[in-house]
Amino acid sequence: MVFTEEMLASMKKVEAARAENIALEPRRMTADEKDALLAAYHPDYRDEAFTAIRLGPNAGEKVPVELNAVLEGRSRVLDLKVDLERIDYDVDVLVIGGGGAGSSAAIEADAAGAKVMIVTKLRIGDANTMMAEGGIQAADKPGDSPAQHYLDVMGGGHYCNRPELVRKLVSDGPACIQWLNELGVEFDKAPDGTMITTHGGGTSRKRMHAAADYSGAEIMRTLRDEVLNRNIPVVDFTAAIEILKDADGRAAGAVLLNMETGEVRVARAKCVIIATGGAGRMHYQGFPTSNHYGATADGLVLAYRAGAKLLYQDTLQYHPTGVAFPQQIYGALVTEKVRSMGAKLINSEGECFMHPLETRDVAAASIIRECSTRGKGVNTGTGRAVWLDTPMIDAIHGKGTLEKRLPAMLRMYLKFGIDMRETPILVYPTLHYQNGGVEIDDRCRTAVENLYVAGEAAGGVHGRNRLMGNSLLDVIVFGRNAGQQAAAAAKDVAEPKGLNLAHVDAYEAELSRLGVKDAEPSPKLLPDYTRKF
Ligand code: FUM
Repeated sequence: MVFTEEMLASMKKVEAARAENIALEPRRMTADEKDALLAAYHPDYRDEAFTAIRLGPNAGEKVPVELNAVLEGRSRVLDLKVDLERIDYDVDVLVIGGGGAGSSAAIEADAAGAKVMIVTKLRIGDANTMMAEGGIQAADKPGDSPAQHYLDVMGGGHYCNRPELVRKLVSDGPACIQWLNELGVEFDKAPDGTMITTHGGGTSRKRMHAAADYSGAEIMRTLRDEVLNRNIPVVDFTAAIEILKDADGRAAGAVLLNMETGEVRVARAKCVIIATGGAGRMHYQGFPTSNHYGATADGLVLAYRAGAKLLYQDTLQYHPTGVAFPQQIYGALVTEKVRSMGAKLINSEGECFMHPLETRDVAAASIIRECSTRGKGVNTGTGRAVWLDTPMIDAIHGKGTLEKRLPAMLRMYLKFGIDMRETPILVYPTLHYQNGGVEIDDRCRTAVENLYVAGEAAGGVHGRNRLMGNSLLDVIVFGRNAGQQAAAAAKDVAEPKGLNLAHVDAYEAELSRLGVKDAEPSPKLLPDYTRKF
């Protein structure tokens, strides 16, 4: 028996109320209700989980304590022998990170004629892009427009988004879908060839393009093929551990560490693009994560020590529906597409307690409230959770729909003896996305000359809360943008001279002055899951 007696008793209530809950039109919360809910229940509002960073461009600002530990960490180069006279790689554009943004950047830089190289601490494609499920937004259907998309993105982000970045995101969206389509991404299409699109939380139009429930894997597969077909060099299992600067303080390459052999290498570059992705494996506030193994905020550390500013580093996205049971897949993503296809969130008493497509921060806070003060969560053995009533999907759209539209999710649960066509599943928020990141302009430039950032490592596009499907769009739009901009800029950059790490020494001196001792090595590179006895 997979489920406990308590779960089965609660499940009976869910089944008994199903027909009524399908018919129910849950009310949307008012803006005031949302604000009060977020302040009381969203993890971003727990003061004890944050501290003020003491040095660097954001000194005095709020930072998650776990991020602060790496921003105030000890640079790895201080304990390694780095020979800056020996140049191992010499390129126009160095791309750090082999996910969706890094690959898109490299493809565009290569297309523009630049000598480009990708360096990645795991393998190309080991990235959050690969794990994205539900889809990619773009306003390319009749009755929709980039302006409408813009309003949704701004509303979802609590109007804190950088307008020029949102403008870029939404206006390049349709062309990016075409670019991916032409590269070979197998989007879901109707028999006449039109793309099938659905809603996501906070969207006013159906603009979510998908490849079943493995949209990110399909996009990443295509981008990886394109990088390899173009013979773009990819140095894998090699982490960038510090940005190098030239004699005039411009970014000019990176110090690289071979993750297998421990060897140190020097890459010189006219322009550097950081595309290192997110931070789920920092496990902020002890949350599980939907992220891939390498999501450890490395890009934020590299850019920050080099002098770039962070933006909204204190806002994280907790995806409302992480797997809460069974334990073997705790924290894994249950795509929002499940809700966009009609499945509703139901508490232990069989009550539908919220509109299923509220924005993610509101949905996550609502689930946390149900499981805490309202006492209407189901005991999972590791905590409390609510039901996502997945059998509603076939009940609404007809038998076979769930299997066709959510095949990967169905298979994931079947491995553990749970058939989500027949029984609801237990969910709880999981750490999913870093809303903020390094501050950039609409050409992906940072405050450090010749240093660019794209994708999840950048901040400002999504304000304080990202909408579903805008992350895949972000990595494509801003990845391509960074590649084009860096390749163009590199044409006017002379061969970098006087490579140095003076900024790292100065940062370290400041840490000493502040009395920081026993700092952990940073960037983190990989999570530490060693059991401590
Ligand atoms: O729910 C999801 O499929 C996640 C999508 C996203 O984060 O954009």
